[in-house]
Amino acid sequence: MKILVTGGTGYIGSHTVVELQNKGYEVVVVDDLSNSTSEVLDNIARITGQKPVFGHFDLKDTEKTASFFRLHKDIGGIIHFAASKAVGESVEQPLKYYRNNLVSLINILQGMTDNNIRNIVFSSSCTVYGQPGKLPVREDAPIQKAISPYGNTKQISEEIITDTSRVTGIQGILLRYFNPIGAHDTAIIGELPIGVPNCLMPYITQTAIGKRPFLRVWGNDYNTPDGTAIRDYLHVVDLAKAHVVAVERMLGERMKEEVEVFNLGTGTGYSVLQVIRSFEQTTGVKLDYRIMDRRPGDVEQVWADTELANNELGWKAEKTLDEMTGSAWKWEKALAEKGL
Ligand code: NAD
Ligand code: WQD
Repeated sequence: MKILVTGGTGYIGSHTVVELQNKGYEVVVVDDLSNSTSEVLDNIARITGQKPVFGHFDLKDTEKTASFFRLHKDIGGIIHFAASKAVGESVEQPLKYYRNNLVSLINILQGMTDNNIRNIVFSSSCTVYGQPGKLPVREDAPIQKAISPYGNTKQISEEIITDTSRVTGIQGILLRYFNPIGAHDTAIIGELPIGVPNCLMPYITQTAIGKRPFLRVWGNDYNTPDGTAIRDYLHVVDLAKAHVVAVERMLGERMKEEVEVFNLGTGTGYSVLQVIRSFEQTTGVKLDYRIMDRRPGDVEQVWADTELANNELGWKAEKTLDEMTGSAWKWEKALAEKGL
């Protein structure tokens, strides 16, 4: 069975390609390399022994996307990761985000409709919940007005898929990721942040390796046990495996509705200080950090209700916080050996 992975050279995409290939799927990757490199394809092959077929083009390009689909009518399912994802940049450049994230999705759904491809798994985000009133947050919690254009593209994308499904027979699984961190155990693939990272985990590892002078902890006056904000961090390999399970659910005709939504997290929230402590204990590296004011736009605390993913999807995150921080550190050291 042939699966198309858009954004397959990116962080979550590359880990998912590995898990799909491990399960025997034939994988075709499409990526414009706007936030990744083609070397990732060789690195995937170093892990699995198979280099995926690669389409190097921009999914915003309607004509190129249409001709790609004409050549690959036998695709059984699509996992659509390709998107721009920097929250801050989306505030500065909203049109870049609306254009990239929405036009790419529309082109894909058009290609699916024209070529009778029925199955799509979509990368959504816990950002659609904002600060939930009730924790852990369930999939049926109200969607809140998005804080950023990036978050808004995820909300609109969910609606575009739902509306399209109603009239085409396309079935969709919308996966709302919480905070993916860590890297493949081999340290051959991982997250490649370009420029100064915004996210916590790459900032921690870059500080520890000496690329950044110290970590800024954004706020310790939240209404949480240690005052720092709480998130549901999950290992990227666990997250990748959820995509395989989702694809199998679709192909196995086990979906109960045309569009289904699942939270993907561990169900446990950790504070920023708990993540720092886990990193220090796992790696033996002391981290220089300083408490700063809150970061605008941050929610105080969020973690997932994972009951639906556990019971209905049949997936459960297995890896611990220490495995997440440990693998992130192994990856940072592998990057340093390559001079990156
Ligand atoms: P990433 O940037 O590492 O991967 C995305 C890939 O898509 C990149 O390789 C990029 O080159 C490619 N791409 C972007 N626009 C494209 C286009 N128009 N045509 C072809 N390729 C294009 O990001 P990631 O962290 O792997 O995230 C994957 C998906 O998961 C994204 O949709 C993101 O919004 C979503 N998501 C990520 C997180 C997170 O914390 N990393 C959390 C929730 C949701
Ligand atoms: C985690 C915690 C920070 C950096 C973002 C997106 C979200 C989703 C996941 C895609 C927060 C604190 C961070 C630092 C810190 N992505 N922090 N110092 O903000 O939960 O979510 O990524 O959909 O949409 O907004 O993740 O890793 O940036 O922050 O103290 O240098 O770490 O304040 O409490 P976030 P993050």
